[in-house]
Amino acid sequence: MTNKIAPAPKAGILDIAPYVGGKSKIDGVAEPIKLSSNENALGCSARAIEAYEKAKEKLFRYPDGHAAPLRAAVAQYHGLEPERLVFGNGSDEVFALLNQVYLEAGDNIVTGEHGFLAYRISALACQAEVKLAEEPDQRVSIDALLDLVDDRTKIVYISNPANPTGTWNTPEELADLRARLAPSILLVIDEAYAEFVDEPTWATAFPLARGADNVIVTRTFSKIHGLAGLRIGFGYCPVDVIAAIDRIRLPFNANLPAQFAAVAALEDTVHIEASRQQILNWHPRLRQAIAGMGFDIRKGIGNFVLIYFRDAEEAARANEFLMSQGLIVRHVANYGLPQALRITIGKDAENEAFLEALSRFAATR
Ligand SMILES: Cc1ncc(COP(=O)(O)O)c(C=O)c1O
Repeated sequence: MTNKIAPAPKAGILDIAPYVGGKSKIDGVAEPIKLSSNENALGCSARAIEAYEKAKEKLFRYPDGHAAPLRAAVAQYHGLEPERLVFGNGSDEVFALLNQVYLEAGDNIVTGEHGFLAYRISALACQAEVKLAEEPDQRVSIDALLDLVDDRTKIVYISNPANPTGTWNTPEELADLRARLAPSILLVIDEAYAEFVDEPTWATAFPLARGADNVIVTRTFSKIHGLAGLRIGFGYCPVDVIAAIDRIRLPFNANLPAQFAAVAALEDTVHIEASRQQILNWHPRLRQAIAGMGFDIRKGIGNFVLIYFRDAEEAARANEFLMSQGLIVRHVANYGLPQALRITIGKDAENEAFLEALSRFAATR
């Protein structure tokens, strides 16, 4: 007799929609232009590659569980207290650790309706509820977030600048949010795209976090440093938060080649500046060209642009058309924006190719 009772995942796990990353292949196209995952158009620093090569000799060793050299390098680069840093397998892992530490079944997180999906997935895995605040004009509203906060809210997440909308909140808004939030609720400000900002009404929340016991700022090496494949990011947290996270953080969560390469990446200020300039040069050029073709495109920050089409059907058609031209962009329906496509800013030739393809699509409208 066979036993038909199979192991069952805990309640809620199979209700979670799996994360779908940016596509990287098109059938029949040998080398598509991939503009779907907000990776660094210029790749990573040659110095980071050199450090990665050096790490090869050490692969039989466990990584430094405290990430001491990287901790010192990040602290110095950003002017932060080293003891307030926690490193993760990408900043995604920092969100997951925070959720695991603070959320019990029945608790909730609050975030914007178009907010980054990683916050939600690991919260659902903790059997917590995800409350999505309306974003008028696709921008996080502090009032709308606060309206959803209740006595089971444990964490409020904001990405600033936001992906995929490219909108942002000012330091005054974030200070206001923090002032109106109970001190027992964590405020996590995800600054994955901080280095691409050239906007006087945006500022890092490191100073806000420094003076607060409930504010965390996260950063990643996946964007400006071009190390998405190595998986390394960090959180700047109150020491009590670090003490709690360190109880459950797997001891070697930040891998050895990633730690080596990240230290070297921080030293390569030339590559950092070139990566930033690539975005700052192309952002307005793309916006202007795309608007000139009659599409709705708004001011935004980050290494991507978001195009709003007439409706979801047109966005899907544009996506298919671009694929037929060898271009992979991101249809962001799962971010609550079915009428939009997000395009990562690429190398010069890639951006030119995208504009040409989009103008051919525009001609079919
Ligand atoms: C808003 C936002 N936060 C965090 C991340 C993920 O960063 P990491 O690669 O460090 O996990 C991304 C990546 O796309 C992002 O868009």
